[in-house]
Amino acid sequence: MSSMESKIPEHRAFHPPASFARNAEVAGMDAYHALCNEAERDYEGFWSRRARDLLHWSKPFTTVLDESDAPFCRWFDGGTLNASYNCLDRHLKNGNAQKVALIFEADDGAVTQITYGELHARVCQLANGLKELGVRLGDRVVIYMPMSIEGIVAMQACARIGATHSVVFGGFSAKSLQERVVDVGAVALITADQQVRGGKNLPLKAIVDEALAMGGCAAVRAVVVYRRTGGQIEWVEGRDRWMSELVANQPQSCDAEPVDAEHPLFVLYTSGSTGKPKGVQHCTAGYLLWALMTMQWTFDLKPDDLFWCTADIGWVTGHTYIAYGPLIAGATQVVFEGVPSYPDSGRFWDMIARHKVSIFYTAPTAIRALIKAAETNADIHPKQYDLSSLRLLGTVGEPINPEVWMWYHRNIGGERCPVIDTFWQTETGGHLIAPLPGATDLVPGSCTLPLPGIQAAIVDESGVEVPNGQGGLLVVKRPWPSMIRTIWGDPERFRSAYFPAELGGNLYLAGDGAIRDEFTGYFTITGRIDDVLNVSGHRMGTMEIESALVAHPLVAEAAVVGRPDDVTGEAISAFVVLKRSLPSGDEALQLISELRNWVGSEIGPIAKPKEVRFGESLPKTRSGKIMRRLLRSIANGEEVKQDTSTLENPAILEQFSASGDSTSSRGV
Ligand code: PRX
Repeated sequence: MSSMESKIPEHRAFHPPASFARNAEVAGMDAYHALCNEAERDYEGFWSRRARDLLHWSKPFTTVLDESDAPFCRWFDGGTLNASYNCLDRHLKNGNAQKVALIFEADDGAVTQITYGELHARVCQLANGLKELGVRLGDRVVIYMPMSIEGIVAMQACARIGATHSVVFGGFSAKSLQERVVDVGAVALITADQQVRGGKNLPLKAIVDEALAMGGCAAVRAVVVYRRTGGQIEWVEGRDRWMSELVANQPQSCDAEPVDAEHPLFVLYTSGSTGKPKGVQHCTAGYLLWALMTMQWTFDLKPDDLFWCTADIGWVTGHTYIAYGPLIAGATQVVFEGVPSYPDSGRFWDMIARHKVSIFYTAPTAIRALIKAAETNADIHPKQYDLSSLRLLGTVGEPINPEVWMWYHRNIGGERCPVIDTFWQTETGGHLIAPLPGATDLVPGSCTLPLPGIQAAIVDESGVEVPNGQGGLLVVKRPWPSMIRTIWGDPERFRSAYFPAELGGNLYLAGDGAIRDEFTGYFTITGRIDDVLNVSGHRMGTMEIESALVAHPLVAEAAVVGRPDDVTGEAISAFVVLKRSLPSGDEALQLISELRNWVGSEIGPIAKPKEVRFGESLPKTRSGKIMRRLLRSIANGEEVKQDTSTLENPAILEQFSASGDSTSSRGV
């Protein structure tokens, strides 16, 4: 497991600026340790006090943590509450109806602001509209929307009536959408006519039509369509409803339905190492609690901050740190429709300067791409923009290389803003390991220490903790409120994927390798230990891509591996065996392009392999196991040094290496 090997320790450290520490939510390491000790001494009390004080309950909970059916845990049983009430009504009651909730910037730069009062009214109207369509408590609604105020309204409206939403990223294909609609058993779908990204209009409704025509979606009674561009779309009478017409005459108030603490707020699909994407099910109370607590701890949110998380609502970061966290915390946030490179790669810096963003949260892949752009075009270098409003920077989604961290710290943060590297996952609901900006000394490339109450550890393959300085598997020893509750419709997969018997059955296995610094105990994540790839911070299973490839009529067999990439972190390399003779020259190039597009239409453009290589068979052991290690070496352009004596067909390595020379180097 290469990802578990030790790395050269990083010794640069950055102390929290004194001015920052003075006013921080958690001020200094003593305060951090006090919180950790409080959780250690009285685990349930620690969470219970915060759940009681920070959330609005319709009925108070009677139990804190029920582990009787572990690993299926229940938090705050007996209590009822509503997520939308907590995110909106509370602020109205506190006199903040006029506070701006969302500053939406469209792809073309048009800006719309909406207050908490207005957002509340719109959420209520759509909630009433959904009720009119027959959507009820416990029903599932799929949301396939662009980044928009309406996307957030849709999520909040579902939460308001107790419907469980499942947001599907707008870049997924019709087939991926259909699979999710079927698996989650959606009764309604909310979408837009089109989405606009980087100056281009892209279809959404047409993909919905295609997905629903694939079958298995008979439960979908209604498709609500937000008119984003007015572009040409097909219309299915009796099923399709314009969002604007549905909400037009609805009252601007709608009672928020109190639901059980454990009621599924959402299901979000993510890739695992085997089979189809898993529907990660999150609850209401524990999830909201952690969304709010991490806004305060990790981002040190203050009432006059302007928060901007650049994620899409189709991913968990867009759930916790756009649709729920900032709203429950009563923050003002920027919501951005477009892409960082349009109209040029200064867009993020320009937006920070124009809106006076104070907390900026993005992914290392975006920073890497923008560094490249800034280095080649001085006009869009961050020093051309006034970034003095910033006071905190965050990163998420993949390891951040120390040099990228340094660039971000220096060029964007002006060496004054703490860079908060947040490690977490779709399954964890919110940050798990991250520095606290007013307390933790920062080390580039390390996510530092677990948040208070999170009992993270590193173990070997039998579940025994390893000493600091030695790599191993990242686990969490005790359940925490915002953790995944189950995999939708597949509790056994939940148990085996996250609580494997080999580790004793009671440790949450994150699926990442990690190492703790010998002296500081700081955590550094070394990457996935399973067959999950991380391309531009997007999580994808190699099996999913392999299945898509073999679904092509010409493909007999395929193996997919990741290889390091300067910008996207990892890139997808596909090794393909055709049902016909080896192609060469232009024919090979044409097939490569066809296969890439094929994967794009099977899964979505984010899954397109960066390179495709052809061979007459895959390198397998005599027992038939594909030797992925060898494929990784080939993809990396390395000489194959591993022992190949157990290979059935060693000559194939030569073939795949040569195939890369003739194809990928031409930039296909
Ligand atoms: O491998 C880790 C990586 O992203 C995975 C989780 O992906 P996903 O569920 O899509 O959620 C991404 C946004 C929370 C993890 O298993 N990852 C996430 N954050 C970091 C990271 N790797 C290193 N450092 C991080 N800060």
